[in-house]
Amino acid sequence: MKGIVIYDSKYNTTKEIAEKLRKRRKGMEIFAVEELSPFKLKEADFIILGSPIYYGRLSKGMENLLKDLDFRKRIRGRPLVIFTVSLWKCKKYLSNFRKFLEEERVVMEYSFGGKFGPFDRRKEREIDEFVEILRRSYGN
Ligand SMILES: Cc1cc2nc3c(=O)[nH]c(=O)nc-3n(C[C@H](O)[C@H](O)[C@H](O)COP(=O)(O)O)c2cc1C
Repeated sequence: MKGIVIYDSKYNTTKEIAEKLRKRRKGMEIFAVEELSPFKLKEADFIILGSPIYYGRLSKGMENLLKDLDFRKRIRGRPLVIFTVSLWKCKKYLSNFRKFLEEERVVMEYSFGGKFGPFDRRKEREIDEFVEILRRSYGN
């Protein structure tokens, strides 16, 4: 099944995670929040939303997307996967997403955590785990 990733990223960690996910799943496309087209949304079986955490909140770009009524209409009832990227691996950051998506169908959530800076082994392991959970629900 085809998923797309919509991400925001200021310092590239979330972008790198999105790129790694693309490499690991056939046909997966990734889009920065500002380059997303409604057409692409329509084609996807499930939608992955990824945001970095700054000062305990989602990025402004992701918040703005989640507040966009047209976007909300387009994702209504569709399976959503959410992930956050933060220095502290902290599930509570996911509630920032959830509060926008209370009426939506969030099927999976994941908190990536770890060092600020170059990609480390821990994140590679997290990617493996994330991809494995996706695979169980949506195949390869
Ligand atoms: C201004 C700023 C504020 C941050 N605030 C938090 C925070 O509240 N909690 C946390 O765990 N990490 C925090 N971080 C770390 C980022 O979430 C982390 O570096 C993340 O990987 C950045 O994603 P990006 O590289 O995709 O922009 C902060 C980083 C910056 C630069």
